[in-house]
Amino acid sequence: MIDRYGRKIEYLRISVTQNCNLKCIYCNPDGDHCKENQEQNLSPKEIEKITRAMAKAGIKKVRLTGGEPLVRHDIYEIISRISRIKGIEDIAMTTNGINLLKMARDLKTAGLQRINISLDSLNKDKFKQITGGGELEKTLEGIDLALELGMTPVKINTVLIKGVNDNEIDEIIELARNRPIEVRFIELMPMGCFGENNADKIIRNDEVIKVRPALKYLEKNDKSVPAVYYGMEGFAGKIGFISPMTHQFCSDCNRIRLTSDGKIRLCLGNNEEVDIREALQLKAKNMGVIMKQIIFNKPMGHHFGEKFSSSRKMQMIGG
Ligand code: GTP
Ligand code: 5AD
Repeated sequence: MIDRYGRKIEYLRISVTQNCNLKCIYCNPDGDHCKENQEQNLSPKEIEKITRAMAKAGIKKVRLTGGEPLVRHDIYEIISRISRIKGIEDIAMTTNGINLLKMARDLKTAGLQRINISLDSLNKDKFKQITGGGELEKTLEGIDLALELGMTPVKINTVLIKGVNDNEIDEIIELARNRPIEVRFIELMPMGCFGENNADKIIRNDEVIKVRPALKYLEKNDKSVPAVYYGMEGFAGKIGFISPMTHQFCSDCNRIRLTSDGKIRLCLGNNEEVDIREALQLKAKNMGVIMKQIIFNKPMGHHFGEKFSSSRKMQMIGG
């Protein structure tokens, strides 16, 4: 499916819940996850129906996000329903990894192929401070289990925040020495109070790269991937940089988002959303036509850096 700006839209990010078991400072510091009205969440059947229609409109890749997707008790059913849809070739998830140890095997059996894991510190106390009480060990064990189960490539997401975790960059890079993982540093975006009020805490990725000559640029195979990757001599894995604040990648964007309350958000940094609950009553074929119309109208790009205030905190849209 080609949108009005000539971009090929193939990637659907589905936020399955706004709930989370952590309270990360840049995402959900107040821990207001208890307020979610569960009845507003799309059911596994509804998610399947929408994804089927999306597949008809050209979507090939699905990523499940949250909140934290692993707090939804019916996550296995959601995955197995999606994995049966013709045309969906890739099913992945972004998680904080806390519940992976007990869930990864069943997730794989249900059809989950790949996992991205948020990890913002390798220091136990700092991890607790950033996540509002999370246990570092659980996430680290989750990463190693995902690797062991072959849910690869396993990608690590680290949001760099000045004065909080920027003293750990080299240590985090070291994770990729012996593990075939992709460690990605992400520039803090103005989504939610913390990002909106702490523009001075953004670490520019080009500054991180400039002072580390050992990082060797790797040519991009796929332009729609926002991360730019670097190799390190002798490393099993690689290092990526996602730079929404300093290098817009909107002209190559290939993604749209489905929120847990049934809205299509066409761009992370643009508040335009389309409610599709009513369209759920239509036959799958007709829904496919509607999805195509919606996707066609995806806006050009995000408004970070201008007077942008997101109608959704990160917790409500899942990155
Ligand atoms: P794969 O390429 O499928 O592995 O996933 P991904 O890197 O797109 O997904 P992930 O959920 O791991 O996101 C990594 C970071 O990129 C998060 O901070 C997201 O918020 C950010 N991100 C993902 N998509 C977009 C986008 O369309 N615009 C912007 N500005 N940031 C995005
Ligand atoms: N800026 C950049 N990345 C963020 N994430 C959450 N909030 C922000 C933000 N304000 C990242 C998390 C998670 C991914 C889905 O989004 O690290 O891995």
